[in-house]
Amino acid sequence: MRVWRIDTAAQTLVFGSDGGVACCHYWGAPLPADQDLGDLVAAGAGGLTGGMLDQLPPLSLLPEARRSFPGQPGLVAFDGDGTPLEPAWALQSADQGDGLTLVHAADGLTLTHRIRPQPHGLVAISASLTANRPIRLHWLAAAALPVPPHMDQLTELAGRWTREFQPVTSDLDHGARIRDARTGRSGHEHPPHLWLATAGTTHTRGEVMALHYGWSGGHRMVVEALPEGRRQIQLGHASGSERATGTRFDSAELLLARGDAGLNSVSIPFQRAIRDRLPPARQPRPVHYNGWEAIYFRHDARELSDIVARAAALGAERFVLDDGWFGRRDDDTTSLGDWQIDPRKHPHGFQPLIDRVQELGMRFGLWFEPEMINEDSDLYRAHPDWVLGPADQIRGRNQLHLDMTRDDVRDHLFTRLDAILRDWDIDYVKWDHNRLTPFPDAGQTRGVYDLLDRLRAAHPQVEIESCASGGGRIDAGILTRCPRVWLSDSNDALERLRIQHHAAAFLPAIATGSHVGPRDCHTSGRVLPMALRAWTAAQRHMGFEMDPRELTEHEAETLTRVTTWWKANRDWMLAGDIWRLDRPQGALAEMQMAADGSRLVIFAATLDSTVAVQPPPLRLTGLDPRARYRLRMIEKPLGHHTSHTAISQDEVTLTGAALMAQGVALPPAFPQTVAVIEGMRL
Ligand code: DGJ
Repeated sequence: MRVWRIDTAAQTLVFGSDGGVACCHYWGAPLPADQDLGDLVAAGAGGLTGGMLDQLPPLSLLPEARRSFPGQPGLVAFDGDGTPLEPAWALQSADQGDGLTLVHAADGLTLTHRIRPQPHGLVAISASLTANRPIRLHWLAAAALPVPPHMDQLTELAGRWTREFQPVTSDLDHGARIRDARTGRSGHEHPPHLWLATAGTTHTRGEVMALHYGWSGGHRMVVEALPEGRRQIQLGHASGSERATGTRFDSAELLLARGDAGLNSVSIPFQRAIRDRLPPARQPRPVHYNGWEAIYFRHDARELSDIVARAAALGAERFVLDDGWFGRRDDDTTSLGDWQIDPRKHPHGFQPLIDRVQELGMRFGLWFEPEMINEDSDLYRAHPDWVLGPADQIRGRNQLHLDMTRDDVRDHLFTRLDAILRDWDIDYVKWDHNRLTPFPDAGQTRGVYDLLDRLRAAHPQVEIESCASGGGRIDAGILTRCPRVWLSDSNDALERLRIQHHAAAFLPAIATGSHVGPRDCHTSGRVLPMALRAWTAAQRHMGFEMDPRELTEHEAETLTRVTTWWKANRDWMLAGDIWRLDRPQGALAEMQMAADGSRLVIFAATLDSTVAVQPPPLRLTGLDPRARYRLRMIEKPLGHHTSHTAISQDEVTLTGAALMAQGVALPPAFPQTVAVIEGMRL
């Protein structure tokens, strides 16, 4: 058997081949350089018993039905005449340089796996399949990997519109858990991120392996306990999403992280890796004002001018004009596709508004939803054949999807968007996507990537934000093209706190948009205090989205104070890490620490009343145990008048060791409050 290994500071993977498709024999904690790999593989191989095949079918990178593999195969493909492809793969070459490239061949087909160590201890694996004739691909796993037996819990992210990124945990015992994201985007329901962990793992304790599929078109995940006890995990594009026959198919990158110190030990490497891959964006990150929840489709010049002035006075630095500026878009039944300024609303184009925005020191951004079309639009009347899917398909928000695989569709969209970006001084595009594709189609994702890449090349100064009804398209694929995501349409600070906390499983603060919403939340009906709303947005890339005319003097003062604080701290916060802290039910806390560890800020939220009167002391993590840290509470949470602890009254100085072992007691707080504590390493 030939064997190879891939090492990072956090994990070792060992691969071996006896001439057929290589298997990952080991994925786990780093192994010493002198570990004999042959001995490792031999010592880990299981035995046989009665009632079994005479040999254990290999759990290879591409498990094969033809080798009697008892679980889900890694490839399902057909020849042009419909014959299932079950090639007898033979290892053709193995190159080890800055990574490992394994090439297998059979029957005019070539299968290549690329395995590359990544910065921050991650490993990336991808698969390509080429054929000497057109074939039809139903399913190709980027890789099948063994799940170590002591990883007994699987946590996936589930969710829905306005409650995205909710972790769901299941035990891995028998049978398969299969997730097939068939909505044509990474999705509110199916963010392509998951982790395997030992039971009892928290943010700070436990062994974890995290996987992320960097693709914006929906993924398929298989986690399966095989009858004899081995367990496999596979990820790839949603099944059946390659709709046309072809001669080359590429999976996206499957990113792997591993850590021994709880979820933070995999989420921080992911935050850093994704941040490193973001496209360039304006620094410092400007405070946004987005007018959607203030005016919706009502664009009135005088009203807009007033809102612009108030947003600037509150501290906004970029003004984003949302939906409603084009065609005759007075509601969501019309005009998608007609990317021409509506002269009824903006009779002199955008110039008067841009002048006003720039006069007040802000930049101007604009909303688009390029992949969509309304039947009531000039574009539809001219090109009804540009629509994707059958005529009788169910509409979504009254709209249909354009066929992004068509060159003429993409050329048309490029021409229209390019003209608007040339005509007006726009430095930011909010790119929305509010309708699911009528069927899974990887070609749509390739089409939108292509259009984004063309526009970015033509307008390198324009930042594009990924928004798909809020958090519907957030993954390591889109995040190489978009430096910011609109995380959710929920501006309810209580919901938002949870959503952004869980999304930090992989999403860095710098890429995560978070806005201060209206007092009466439009998506939940809750009425929440400004301190909670403002400090929630200040934990990520901050913005405002309420009608500034509704603010009381006190609310405006609170918002201005928090925004000023954010501006003074954004540079180091957004270049640092989000450490999530363990808190009891009803509470939630994060520490953001500068990249050099010299300063930190803690946001400790009380969402609901807690069971115990005294919440347990807030234990920190990731500190230098020998260093001393001075902590100061800059926002005291509202609570009973007797509710005090040392930190709410004065500065506290402790060693990192004490802060991590005991922590600091927080004053019991009312629900819907956030305590904010700044820290300096002395
Ligand atoms: C959905 C987005 O998530 C909102 O922020 C807003 O842009 C609307 N679409 C506009 O139609």
